[in-house]
Amino acid sequence: MRHSIRRFQKMRDDGNPIPMMTAYDYTSAYAVEKAGVPIILVGDSLGQVILGHDSTVPVTMDDMIRHIQMVVRSTEKSHIVGDLPFMSYQVSEEQAICNAGRLLKEGGCQSVKLEGGRSIAKTVKKIVQVGIPVMGHLGLTPQSVNQMGGYRVQGRSPEESQILLEDALAIQESGAYAIVLELVSSEVAEMVTEKLSIPIIGIGSGAGCSGQVQVFHDILGLIPDFSPKHARRYAEMGVMIQNAVESYVSDVMDKKFPSDEESF
Ligand code: KIV
Repeated sequence: MRHSIRRFQKMRDDGNPIPMMTAYDYTSAYAVEKAGVPIILVGDSLGQVILGHDSTVPVTMDDMIRHIQMVVRSTEKSHIVGDLPFMSYQVSEEQAICNAGRLLKEGGCQSVKLEGGRSIAKTVKKIVQVGIPVMGHLGLTPQSVNQMGGYRVQGRSPEESQILLEDALAIQESGAYAIVLELVSSEVAEMVTEKLSIPIIGIGSGAGCSGQVQVFHDILGLIPDFSPKHARRYAEMGVMIQNAVESYVSDVMDKKFPSDEESF
């Protein structure tokens, strides 16, 4: 049985920080679950780190379903959150419910995440009413990068932080079980975390949130020349992979691979 959303509320209520991480395929999700991550996000950041787009905007429902299926296949206990991609929930409430349902029925995840505040609150309520748990996403909302004009820290002025708080309260009121807060100043994130009663999962939003989420590729250094300030590099996997493959290439070229032991 996978972890349910109740577990994350209890962790928050008991003051236990919630570690969340992205994974996008069978192999990455296997390692992430084995490492003890109770909640895995199949984020639409796969648009950049897997599909090579320059934003999350081009990601489709089919992309999301395919990658959620991979993550579900290699995990047993972790709660899997699937991102609703850009334009899969904004057109109408009916469209949003159908697409949230597809992520659960065809993908196999247990909850969905979508971006936005008060403007999307009614949609969140409708999705929750049909029995699909929803995670909100506020602060920097990457699907609106073209509107926001770049990936910048949000909620810097008192007016902006008030708007952020009102958006968070509206999403909580709509029945969301948690909210991701991306690239918000530590003070504002802490204030929102204190004022809300559901878990607030931060990314680049300081230590005062109920939990933290990070992108698999960022903390493992899989893309060597991309290192966001908020991501601690726990490994230099990109360099390690390149070095290992270079050794393989020279072994083949020097006729050192395969050896007798590696042959039949
Ligand atoms: O898509 C994603 O990976 C996300 C995280 C940045 C929270 O939404």
